[in-house]
Amino acid sequence: MIKNTWAEPYKIKMVEPVFMSTESHRKKAIEEAGFNTFLLKSEDVYIDLLTDSGTSAMSDRQWAGLMLGDEAYAGSRNFYSLEETINKYYGYKYVVPTHQGRGAEHIISQILISEGDVIPGNMYFTTTRLHQQLAGGKFVDVIIDEAHDPENIFPFKGNIDLEKLEDLIKEVGAERIPYVAIATTVNMAGGQPLSLANLKAVRELTDKYGIKIIHDMTRVAENAFMIQQIEEGYADKSVAEIVLEICSLTDGATMSAKKDAMVNIGGFLAVNDYDIFDQARNMVVVYEGLHTYGGLAGRDLEAMAIGISESVRDEHMHARIGQVYYLGKKLEKKGIPIVLPIGTHGVFLDAKKFLPHIPQDRFPAQTLAAELYTESGIRAMERGVVSAGRNKETGEHNYPDLELLRLTIPRRVYTQAHMDVIVEAVCNVFERRESIKGLKMTYEPKYLRFFQARFEQVKHTIPEVSLKQDALLEV
Ligand code: F0G
Repeated sequence: MIKNTWAEPYKIKMVEPVFMSTESHRKKAIEEAGFNTFLLKSEDVYIDLLTDSGTSAMSDRQWAGLMLGDEAYAGSRNFYSLEETINKYYGYKYVVPTHQGRGAEHIISQILISEGDVIPGNMYFTTTRLHQQLAGGKFVDVIIDEAHDPENIFPFKGNIDLEKLEDLIKEVGAERIPYVAIATTVNMAGGQPLSLANLKAVRELTDKYGIKIIHDMTRVAENAFMIQQIEEGYADKSVAEIVLEICSLTDGATMSAKKDAMVNIGGFLAVNDYDIFDQARNMVVVYEGLHTYGGLAGRDLEAMAIGISESVRDEHMHARIGQVYYLGKKLEKKGIPIVLPIGTHGVFLDAKKFLPHIPQDRFPAQTLAAELYTESGIRAMERGVVSAGRNKETGEHNYPDLELLRLTIPRRVYTQAHMDVIVEAVCNVFERRESIKGLKMTYEPKYLRFFQARFEQVKHTIPEVSLKQDALLEV
């Protein structure tokens, strides 16, 4: 699908040395971090695949843009440059900058959601769902069933199930649904795109009921590239054209510019409705900063504007996703269980299949993250039961079908040789998988627990539930 030959459309001007640690150093480091890769010090990491968020390499133009920072409190020229860029590449009319994606999620959730509302979406994202809940809403997953099956190779696993969506509208009433939340691409499903045909159908359905669509456009250019590659009728369109078309089918968007737009910090809320914009512009002053800087420096706004224009270039996307596919294909060939199709921002290991002897309440993906780090100094991120949190009503863990370890690839940072090292390290852990035991959680924060939870290694791979019944077993 993705053409075999590709190379980076840039050359390297500056390098950042990384720490080549020993295994004994890493064992100590992961223990001190409570077996949570979020709690490792970055200087103890060799290849950092925790996230593609804020970790990409900026271009020389973006760095030059920092020097053009107009640090006026109000009306910075960089804001107008960002606004113009968003109008041009995304087509949204009104822009409110925020410090990052969740700042925009907070504002739109508070404006549009009332107590008891229901927000359907193509799978949850951690911060997005939490802001919907904090505003009094309830998220309902209406993604197609294929998305929950890591082995199903349907090419658009980010699609909305139209029947599920319409049934929900009929069940709760259109007036209880402030908007449908659409993410491009779907992070928790393994970086899966949605198709334009599906989005058009969702638009038609929501129009019928007078419901808005709010677009989490964090990785929209990656989604657009996949549409160009595999959706019928789009092969001759540019990524930029497809991005514009996606945005035109929605009413507004939240953006974490730390991904597609390749800045270290930044985001925005963009809408077409003046009244919503007016409320957002007022609210941002309370939580982020004045409406022309939204918690960012002028220089950050400029780097974001430049990053947006770079993110929609075909050759950039080809190399970006080409690299992720290179890694994914190699792992697949070695028989490593990964989510298929390969995602756009990373390769997701299927921890349930990788460590089938570890029950889900012993956190297989979290365990795998700790093992991969100890093996190689490579840091990855759990996207399974720890990330899914607890059921608000029962207090039990949410047990998602997908128990994944995400090897997230920052943009323009690592080389093909790094990808080969990653493959080797994953294979080494796979070879000794049967000797690996699970973890038990020893500290659990109230919100977004995956960031700060702590764990201990267990001696037996027995589900926690059975252990509760048999307190005599030593863990
Ligand atoms: N939406 C999606 C789809 C995301 O992936 C993220 C962040 C956000 C919203 C929130 O944006 O971090 O700027 O506040 N994802 C990061 C990740 C954290 O590692 O996947 P933010």
